[in-house]
Amino acid sequence: MCGIVGYVGPQEATPIILNGLMRLEYRGYDSAGIAVIDAQGAIHVRRSVGKLAELEHLVAQQPLAGTVGIGHTRWATHGVPAARNAHPHVGMNGRVVLVHNGIVENYLPLRAELEAEGIQFASETDTEVIVQLVERYLESGCSLETAVRRALGHLTGAHGVVLMTGDEPDRLVAARIGHAGGVTLGVGEGEMFIASDLPAVLRHTRRMVFLEPGQMAVVEADRYRVTTLAGEPVPAEEQVVSWDPVSAAKGAYERFMKKEIHEQVEALTATIGGRLDLEAGRVFLPTLPLTDDAARDLTRLFTVACGTSYYSGLAGKYMIESLARLPVEVAYGSEFRYTDPIIDRSTALLAITQSGETVDTLVSMEEGRRRGARLWSIVNAIGSQAMRIADGYIGMQAGPEIGVASTKAFTTSLADQYLLALYLAAKRGTLSATEIRARANDLLALPRLVSQVLAQDETIRQLAIRLARYRNFLYIGRGINFPVALEGALKLKEISYIHAEGYPAGEMKHGPIALIDEQMPVVAIVTQDRVYEKMLSQVEQAKARGGLVVALANEGDQTIAEKADYVVTVPVAPPLLAPIVNVVPLQLLAYHMATWLGLDVDQPRNLAKSVTVE
Ligand code: F6R
Repeated sequence: MCGIVGYVGPQEATPIILNGLMRLEYRGYDSAGIAVIDAQGAIHVRRSVGKLAELEHLVAQQPLAGTVGIGHTRWATHGVPAARNAHPHVGMNGRVVLVHNGIVENYLPLRAELEAEGIQFASETDTEVIVQLVERYLESGCSLETAVRRALGHLTGAHGVVLMTGDEPDRLVAARIGHAGGVTLGVGEGEMFIASDLPAVLRHTRRMVFLEPGQMAVVEADRYRVTTLAGEPVPAEEQVVSWDPVSAAKGAYERFMKKEIHEQVEALTATIGGRLDLEAGRVFLPTLPLTDDAARDLTRLFTVACGTSYYSGLAGKYMIESLARLPVEVAYGSEFRYTDPIIDRSTALLAITQSGETVDTLVSMEEGRRRGARLWSIVNAIGSQAMRIADGYIGMQAGPEIGVASTKAFTTSLADQYLLALYLAAKRGTLSATEIRARANDLLALPRLVSQVLAQDETIRQLAIRLARYRNFLYIGRGINFPVALEGALKLKEISYIHAEGYPAGEMKHGPIALIDEQMPVVAIVTQDRVYEKMLSQVEQAKARGGLVVALANEGDQTIAEKADYVVTVPVAPPLLAPIVNVVPLQLLAYHMATWLGLDVDQPRNLAKSVTVE
């Protein structure tokens, strides 16, 4: 979950690393650090607790010079946020320095063993055992590459590491074990970059090499070498990525979340674009090859995902079941493997993940593979693990999502599931070409509908200001809008720290209605669909108990205007696509409440963007 950056080349390393860390701060922001090797081969380290600005301040006071360095932004797992626990960690004798992403599961016995040998630890982290082990091997005469290889052999758990030593001041050694987030090499002209995520290096190069689990790399300014952890050479495959540095920056927006909410029109256009042949009534998904026979043989789809992506999967179930008539079960990535799922070759497993690095989702994919499922993913981060290990994938085309609260990944992954549903429907013969054409046309209208919602940004901000004083909210919806209620509540709680619950509206009377009073606003999704009448009656029930109702309704709905305290209007969307439109005002509502409360919406407390620990 932590962010890692490395640089080796002719330029000063410090500004490049600090800039890279700034672009990765969404990964973790409780402390940060940097280490640079100077011209005499001495390692200098600066670490500070708090956000990156603290480290920048420290480096301004105590500058660093050198052209090889590593940096880290931390999301604490073992050891409180403190300068001593921040990375880079240094070996007891100062010979080697390391940044790490992951958890050393067996660190306690390793630490005890090393302490028994007289090694003194300077932090409470699990990470420090790695650097002490590497230094021990260096002291016995190993090169850095060999020392890292041997040290990694002691560890259990998943890891991404980058190390350097003053003994070999021209190189960095990076390695990846398991799914602890990516380690990417950025290939420049006479310089090399290393990063856990692309935004850190995009302004320097788009030529990338993605390390697979079980691989390591020795990186010098003008060359790099990839091997397995056992030392076997691996032919490195360079990829040129299409993301650009501008899309990974805030631009004119004050905050990434706001930018990303507004980018949804563009992101949906890109997601849908080029994937529909309206004349023929066909959907193209070239990265998800499937024969008609294989599609017909499918008996079940498991969708696995976490958080917002899980809620996207819950809504996608309605699309796939309705259009492709394929039963869908949606599971949390963190729970899937404990359910003893019934899977065989006629089962497909669809992982939905923005980052493509969420370890719970990746482990579920492995479980699906082990049990013989066909593996698919819907993924945003180019080159990520979930993209690489799947038999077929659909790219979200959302561009980099930096704000910790996911927004455009929710809507684009829903559009992708709709495309998948149509694709399967054509192959399974559940819809005719004419029906697919009509449904595809619906999809094409989406960017326009979403832009109509975005035009109400200021109206929603005014409403948010009125609501920001409440401490508890209920979000209710029925059918395909129930997952939207869940997502609306999640957005609010994660960035505003206001307690919010998403509930299926019909379940209110079975318990939660007891919570309703004038201090508990109810956000009800009451758009015109087959559950409209039932939702109206839910609104009545909330009003009858003194609740304050904020209704999300279609333009021109007089009935709801008379019943609810506040109405946010959305354009009418085809029922299966309504979540893509309806979620947008809820994203804006959460955003404006949190900013009104003066909170850091891009980096909410305790959270990190890519969750690479179990
Ligand atoms: C919420 C949020 C998280 C992620 C979840 C899965 O706003 O961002 O709930 O959706 O951690 O992340 P991905 O999609 O990267 O697997």
